[in-house]
Amino acid sequence: MKFFLDSADVEYIARLRDTGLVDGVTTNPSLIAQSGRDFESVLRDICALVDGPVSAEVVATDAGGMAEQGRALAAIADNIAVKLPSTWEGMRACRTLVAEGIAINVTLCFSANQALVAAKAGARFISPFIGRVDDTGADGMQLIEEIRTIYDNYPALETEILAASARHVGHIKAAALAGADVVTTPPKLLEALMQHPLTDKGLQRFLHDWQQAGQAMPATTAAGRKPN
Ligand code: G3P
Repeated sequence: MKFFLDSADVEYIARLRDTGLVDGVTTNPSLIAQSGRDFESVLRDICALVDGPVSAEVVATDAGGMAEQGRALAAIADNIAVKLPSTWEGMRACRTLVAEGIAINVTLCFSANQALVAAKAGARFISPFIGRVDDTGADGMQLIEEIRTIYDNYPALETEILAASARHVGHIKAAALAGADVVTTPPKLLEALMQHPLTDKGLQRFLHDWQQAGQAMPATTAAGRKPN
């Protein structure tokens, strides 16, 4: 499963990029607004930090305008994926931009039918919004499962399921169990994946007992080899 960071916070992305476990980034107009930075400038910084796909969303609502904005976004860096909404105008723009070799992430997906059409339109990613489906009282994870089943029924559909709007670590585990290809999460949620109180408690106990034992670790040279 690939981990994408759902953020336009360059400093936070840089910190987590150093784990070597960040496979891409997704942004949207709200995250760009929260960054308080110029759209193109923050995208350039993120694309320079992360080798994987960086999603940048158009704001036009007509196919022609989306295609024009999509070309401009794709020209920023080779790893830009253009985000288009799950609308018919978005699908028209998707077909146009895919034909020009531009990677598309179809976003604001709330039904398996939208995901089926997006895959037929050649999208590289489909972004079902788990948390926002849950907010309506429906089951966001069922949407992931339905899309997974449909895509697996038709191997010619190569679109990757990019689980979005994850709100807690349970969403990430469930998305992995459901077979999502990617999950995009706020940086804090990615960090939470490795946090567990029993791990902390157990480590403290090991270190205490080791100190009490007065033992020493084997000596090694600077190169990590045992001295002769
Ligand atoms: O990538 C989509 C994500 O940013 C939406 O998250 O929590 O606003 O539903 P949320």
